[in-house]
Amino acid sequence: MKNTRISRGYNRLAPFYTVSAKLVFGNTLQRAQEFFLDQIRDSDCVLILGGGSGELLTALLRQHPRVKIDYVDISPRMIELARRKNHNPDNVNFIIGTERQIPGETYSVVITNFYLDLFNDQTLERVIHQLKPHLATNVTWLATDFVSEKVWHKVFLGMMYAFFKIVTGIQTHTLPHWQGALTKAGMQEQISKKFYRGFIKSSVYKIVQ
Ligand SMILES: C[S@@+](CC[C@H](N)C(=O)[O-])C[C@H]1O[C@@H](n2cnc3c(N)ncnc32)[C@H](O)[C@@H]1O
Repeated sequence: MKNTRISRGYNRLAPFYTVSAKLVFGNTLQRAQEFFLDQIRDSDCVLILGGGSGELLTALLRQHPRVKIDYVDISPRMIELARRKNHNPDNVNFIIGTERQIPGETYSVVITNFYLDLFNDQTLERVIHQLKPHLATNVTWLATDFVSEKVWHKVFLGMMYAFFKIVTGIQTHTLPHWQGALTKAGMQEQISKKFYRGFIKSSVYKIVQ
């Protein structure tokens, strides 16, 4: 029921998502998401969760046209846009669903961009727990998301959460401790890069061996 509401919300937002993100952040969201794509190899098996309307997918396929990808998003409209934008490539498996609908595979790369911020701390812990059986032991987890380290970050986030709450019905109103949640799940940040005066962070995580 809750997921149906969220899915409908993102369906409504889908046609405007990229344009409105660009109006607010310019190309920064895309630049941040592309920054660590060089960590991916042609032989990888990639899971993209909450992939959205497909901008990152285009960049990824440009660098690795044949890499195998499972592309999961709760919104059929987002999936449709991603599929069309990328000419329905046969090495991409588009899945309308959530972390509960991930095919029973293990992945050597997981990409969560502006996805971990959709949950409250408690749900995020559950979501990451659900993902763990799908992680190869040498997995590379690429996460790009907001961080809240300055007063203006908090104010900005407050406005964005208010907007997303109204439009999509997401369940949280504050940024969860997504970095802490990944660390708690046994991941370790290897490298990172900040964008937009420190408001956006792209990180590469690996499992602590
Ligand atoms: C803020 S958008 C980010 C989209 C894309 N990653 C980007 O950065 O452009 C969040 C995306 O996650 C999807 N989404 C929301 N909740 C989800 C869930 N539980 N499982 C999978 N996708 C979800 C939405 O439909 C939306 O496409």
